[in-house]
Formats: sequence, structure tokens, C-alpha cells
Amino acid sequence: MRELIADLRAVIGSAHVLAEPDVVAGYATDWTRRYSGVAACVVRPASTAEVADVIRACAAHGAPIVPQGGNTSLLGGSVPSDRMPVPPVILWTGRLTSLDPVDTRSSQVTVGAGVTIAKLRAHAAAAGLSYGVDLASRDTATVGGTIATNAGGIRAIRYGPTRAQVAGVTAVLADGSVVGNMSGLTASAAGYDIAQLLTGSEGTLAVITAARLRLRIAEPAVAVLMAGVAGIDAAADLLARIGAAVPGVLAGEYFDSAGMDLVCRAAGLPLPRGYDRSVAEGASAGDGAAGFLLAELTSGDAGPDDIAQRLAGAALPDQTWVATDSRGMAALWAYRERLTEAIATTGIPHKMDVAVPAGELGAFRSELDGVVRAATVHDSESLVIVFGHIGVGNLHVNVIGPDPADTSVDVAVARLAAAHGGSVAAEHGVGRAKAAWLGLTRSVAEIAAMHAIKAALDPAGLLNPGVLLPAER
Ligand code: FAD
Ligand code: MLT
Ligand code: ZN
Repeated sequence: MRELIADLRAVIGSAHVLAEPDVVAGYATDWTRRYSGVAACVVRPASTAEVADVIRACAAHGAPIVPQGGNTSLLGGSVPSDRMPVPPVILWTGRLTSLDPVDTRSSQVTVGAGVTIAKLRAHAAAAGLSYGVDLASRDTATVGGTIATNAGGIRAIRYGPTRAQVAGVTAVLADGSVVGNMSGLTASAAGYDIAQLLTGSEGTLAVITAARLRLRIAEPAVAVLMAGVAGIDAAADLLARIGAAVPGVLAGEYFDSAGMDLVCRAAGLPLPRGYDRSVAEGASAGDGAAGFLLAELTSGDAGPDDIAQRLAGAALPDQTWVATDSRGMAALWAYRERLTEAIATTGIPHKMDVAVPAGELGAFRSELDGVVRAATVHDSESLVIVFGHIGVGNLHVNVIGPDPADTSVDVAVARLAAAHGGSVAAEHGVGRAKAAWLGLTRSVAEIAAMHAIKAALDPAGLLNPGVLLPAER
């Protein structure tokens, strides 16, 4: 290990090879605190060439590499596991922060992998454009991390997930060679699309160092609406009515009333003015939980007044709050956006990010509490909080109570999603947490093809071992 660290210092300089155990431990624990491991050191390269040098040095020593951006992953993918036979090197991308000028002719921009989503969005906005991915971790999550996980977020309903924004990447393979094409050409059919292959590959095939990203015409939010609903099916129906009535829906989010209670308590938010939970609960359709739909709207060519008129045709529930000024909109968003941190104040939750087809949302939700109860029969009390991007069928099932080391409830929820024709990994990736359950969502032949790709690009298995792919039989 000493020789590895000396070689890494020789290629990128001592100041950017961190080996003090306390410092390394900070990088080796993920955002949830559920996943952590031991690493040899943390390296902080500042260019594609330095990333290539680091990877070659690691390969020469047989040292695994864990790529890390903002470390906001919720599934252990950005940190080592505690069971790795050789302590890996954490390759932190936070110094890859180049921001090229926006190319307004193609509506594209080239940026470093370590640029945060907030910085990218501000950069695009300064050119009158918008980046199509946004998420509550925007101040920390990076371009590289969001590409590696194919992040979704609140705008996926309008612009698709990260995959839909990626026009090219530069990346370093496990042997130190650099691949990628940053021309941004839409008209290109010359062979395999490496940028798309690397999108969602979670650091197992290459380290992304820069990206060419598509930007969108800015569509300002003119209103945020929050409505109390009887359950998740009612929320989906209401969102469909709103979508039919207004020119554009920028976000369509759902959260249980248990989430409202918790976020108000933990984040110190006031309950919405005039909120009467009994109205929603009295009308509950029996699919498990009353809750809220939050929708963010854009006006297209119509003005804000026109939006209000059009909403009148959407049969909004009695308990509906609408904000049209930026302060009011932010206040409504806070109930949804601060849920993750509110849940984290209760301890280490079990977080299951799944997707189910629109027609299965209600059935999934109504079976969920029973499934959780059965899986947590030995725990005194579990609290279930469901929220997510309902417009794309993406639900975040959070279970608070069971021991973090016990995965019974996680696998039970994964099986329930699969039984409803869903995916066990919607937008956070597979990480370490779900690698064993990939087969619930992908076929044997697909998983074999993924292993073949991995073996071809990383024959020694040095890039993020244990993440995404189940161990080979
Ligand atoms: P990291 O956590 O550092 O890494 C994630 C994975 O990508 C790891 O496997 C890592 O090895 C790999 N990786 C990182 N950088 C590179 C690179 N340059 N090259 C190759 N591999 C790399 N996710 C959503 O999809 N939608 C949401 O709405 C959302 N909201 C969130 C809200 C909060 C409060 C938090 C804490 C998280 C949220 N997340 C959300 C999860 C998380 O922010 C995303 O998964 C994000 O994409 C991770 O980016 P990161 O830079 O933090 O990556
Ligand atoms: C969100 O949509 O807020 C996230 O994906 C984070 C979470 O699941 O907690
Ligand atoms: Zn999410």
C-alpha cells in the first residue's frame, strides 16, 4: 500500500493524495451512513490526463478504484464496501470543474465531470437555456455522478432522465486509455454509442471526466400547486387532469401525509394553512395512505392568468394550495424537497427507489404496508413513508425502524415492485445495495451480456467491484 501511495503521489502530487485515516474515512462513508468501508487513500486528479495516470498506477498495483463525485448516492455505490479484499483507491472528481462557454447554436455545453448540477444549471441559465435534470441534491451531486447513475429527478416527467441529456462523454477506461466523442453530433451512426453505454454504468466500466450535454429552451415555472388527495391513484388521476388542462407540467410529485407530518416536525415547517387531514383521510380510496400531489407548471405561450383559468377545468380538490410568486412556490416545494433530510433525522432509513407502471401505482401502494409488516415482524414499530416522482411512476419507499444491516424489508419491497411489472432501480442506480436483486428486473441473458461487457472493458475487475453487477455464479 505504501508503494501505491508513493506512486500516486509521484503522478498527481502529494497534496492530492490523502491518506490520513480520519480524512479517508469521511470519503468512505456515504450520504445515508448506511454504507461505509475502508480505502487505501483518496486521490483528487484535476484533468483527464491525471485520471489516466492514476488509473494506470492503480492497475499496476492491482488496486481497485471507487469513483466518487458528490457522494450523494443512496445505495453505497460511491464508497468501498467493508468486505473488499484489497482496500481500494477513492477517485474523487471534485477538481474536474471546467465549464466551457454554452454553444448556443447547438444548445449544448461541455463541462467537467465534477461540476455540480446547481453550477451547471446556473451556467445554462446565464445563456438563457436550461439543463433538463434537477434534483434536491443539486448543490453537491455532480455531472459525472448523475451520468453514472442515470439520475432522474423532478424534471424527468418533462425532459427525461440524464440519459436524454447526454450527447457525449470523455472517459478513462481501466487500462488508462481515453475514449469519447465530444462533437455533440445528433447525426452520428458510426458504431456503438459509448456515451450511452457509460450512462448508468455506475463507475464499473470507466471514469467519466467530462460531458457534452444537451440544453433546453428555458421554460419558467409560473405556478406550483399542492393538493391533498385520498391516495396515490387519486394523485395520478389528478396529475393527468392537470396535464390535460395546462400547457406544460415541469414536475409531478407525490408524498404521503406521514411525510408531511415528518417534514413539518423535523424541518420546522408550518402545516399548510387550513390543512385538514381528516378531509383527505375521510375520502381515502383505501389504497393505503392519504397524501399530496405537488405539480409545477409552465405556461408556454399562455400567461400566468390563463393558467389559473385552465386549472379551473381540472376539478382540483377542496384542499389545494397554489403559489405563483417565487417565495410561495419555494415554500410549497419545501414540503417535498426537504423530505429526504427529514427522514435522515430519524436515524438510518431503508430507502428503496422503485418504479411501477402507472396503472399499478395504487395496487402497489395498497399491498406495501402488509409487505413491510410481514418483513419487519421482529421489529417493534416501523414507519413507512412513500414519496417520489409519480409522473414517471418512480416511488421512494422509506422504512424507518428496522436494523440498517437487515435487508429483509428492502428485498421484500423490491420483490413487490417486480411483481407489479416494475423496476427495482428507478433513478438512484443499483449500487452495492441492490446488485443481488438485479435479476428481479433484468433477464439472465441481459445480466450475462452485462458481465461480458464488464469483462471486455475491465478484465481485472478493478473499477468499482461489487457495484451494479451480482457476483458471477
Ligand atoms: P456519487 O454519489 O459520488 O456516485 C454515484 C455513483 O456514480 C457511484 O457508483 C460512483 O462510483 C459513480 N460515479 C461518480 N462519479 C463518476 C464519474 N465521474 N465517472 C464514473 N462513475 C462515477 N437521485 C435522483 O436520481 N433523483 C433525485 O431526485 C435525487 N434526489 C436526491 C436528494 C437528496 C437530498 C440526496 C442526498 C440524493 C438524491 N439523489 C437523487 C441521489 C443522488 O444525488 C444521485 O444518485 C446523483 O446522481 C449522485 O451524484 P454524485 O455526484 O453525488 O455521485
Ligand atoms: C428524491 O426524489 O428526493 C430523492 O430521490 C431522494 C430520496 O429518495 O430520498
Ligand atoms: Zn427521487
